Amino acid sequence: MFQYRYSDIDHSVNIIYAVLLLWILVIPCNVSVHGTHVWPVPYKRLDRRPDVEPYCQALYPFCPTGDPDGQIPCMKASDTISVFRLQAPVWEFKYGDMLGKFHIMHDAIGFASADTGRNFTMEWYELFQLGNCTFPHERENVSAPFWCNQGAACFYEGIDDIHWKQNGTLEKIGEISGEMFNEMARWVQDDNETGVYYETWTVKTDPGANATTWFESYDCSQFVHRTYRKLFELGAVLLSKTQTNYTKIYLYSGEPVYLGDDAIFQQSSTKDLATDIKKFYHSFRPHQSVLEVIISVFEAYEETILEKTFYLYYNSAYWKLQMKHPYFRITYKEIPLP
Ligand SMILES: *[C@@H]1O[C@H](CO)[C@@H](O)[C@H](O)[C@H]1NC(C)=O
Ligand SMILES: *[C@@H]1O[C@H](CO)[C@@H](O)[C@H](O)[C@H]1NC(C)=O
Ligand SMILES: *[C@@H]1O[C@H](CO)[C@@H](O)[C@H](O)[C@H]1NC(C)=O
Ligand SMILES: *[C@@H]1O[C@H](CO)[C@@H](O)[C@H](O)[C@H]1NC(C)=O
Ligand SMILES: *[C@@H]1O[C@H](CO)[C@@H](O)[C@H](O)[C@H]1NC(C)=O
Ligand SMILES: *[C@@H]1O[C@H](CO)[C@@H](O)[C@H](O)[C@H]1NC(C)=O
Ligand SMILES: *[C@@H]1O[C@H](CO)[C@@H](O)[C@H](O)[C@H]1NC(C)=O
Repeated sequence: MFQYRYSDIDHSVNIIYAVLLLWILVIPCNVSVHGTHVWPVPYKRLDRRPDVEPYCQALYPFCPTGDPDGQIPCMKASDTISVFRLQAPVWEFKYGDMLGKFHIMHDAIGFASADTGRNFTMEWYELFQLGNCTFPHERENVSAPFWCNQGAACFYEGIDDIHWKQNGTLEKIGEISGEMFNEMARWVQDDNETGVYYETWTVKTDPGANATTWFESYDCSQFVHRTYRKLFELGAVLLSKTQTNYTKIYLYSGEPVYLGDDAIFQQSSTKDLATDIKKFYHSFRPHQSVLEVIISVFEAYEETILEKTFYLYYNSAYWKLQMKHPYFRITYKEIPLP
């Protein structure tokens, strides 16, 4: 029988290895370091999902047909589960010329059990819609802008074939075992508990291939990519016969400057900054269709407002972006399967 005994030296070497390994695992591979910040700014995960503020009221209930406790059914280990890539236009863009112009798509993943014939849809989206994740509310007697910006995973029975096929995609991209599915389900629950805030914007220096990314979005398509990567890690082979394009919403800016969290709105020393941030978000107050508002504001005010400053809210703190041409873009570009 083997027994390991660590001397103090072995022990400290192990700690150094552990720290290095953690560092490698935690820092994504394409980060760069300019000045004092690590870019892109790592998305902050929480220990657990906080309760939603009662002020935030969903116009459309989140995940109405999902399990109330977010349970994902356990599959038989030997089952064969088909995996589907699902994509459909965001409902508010299904009509009119927005769809053709911008390809604003929502992404999800479908699963179908060979054993039971049951199928399921899994997606990640805003609890209070995109507008509430992109712009804050002004509340009486609350000094800081107020955000209803949680997003979450929703798992429910059924795949609505017609919905996904209509101007979208429903494509089988692989098969996994029931065991892999169950492993993925545990990961989804953890991911759902720790990554809770929706981030609309990807912020880069410019649209070029060598641009530095300052911030990465955290949205439905990022969830789909994370899940594909998890399945790949577990040994799944995923293949698509068509181009796998995704919608991304970009801002272009110089190196961001960290401003601080809600304390900005409580201290007298940052009173002017607090006023500027509130004024900025006041001009973006959402009305009916958020993206339409964003687009019209950007089109109309590009030169005047955005040549100056965009106040980005990321990881529950504010950052100042010095905007650069072309300021803003919605792209629909290929991101290959892992
Ligand atoms: C956005 O949040 C506000 C404030 O809670 C709420 O009244 C509104 O219904 C939300 N919008 C949507 C589309 O859920
Ligand atoms: C994710 O969290 C939300 C919000 O708490 C919850 O409604 C949902 O059921 C959870 N989803 C999964 C798959 O755990
Ligand atoms: C796709 O969208 C266009 C434009 O909104 C619409 O005219 C067309 O009927 C849609 N196609 C299907 C199959 O629904
Ligand atoms: C805001 O504060 C004022 C003065 O204390 C109070 O009269 C008012 O009811 C408060 N409004 C809300 C919405 O709490
Ligand atoms: C999912 O199940 C429903 C109901 O049995 C069926 O109509 C639909 O075609 C299935 N979709 C897929 C992609 O398996
Ligand atoms: C990106 O950087 C590489 C290596 O420095 C260079 O060869 C290439 O031309 C650059 N591409 C663009 C689009 O700037
Ligand atoms: C999908 O992305 C590729 C390259 O990323 C692009 O050339 C192509 O036009 C995109 N397809 C659509 C339908 O926009």
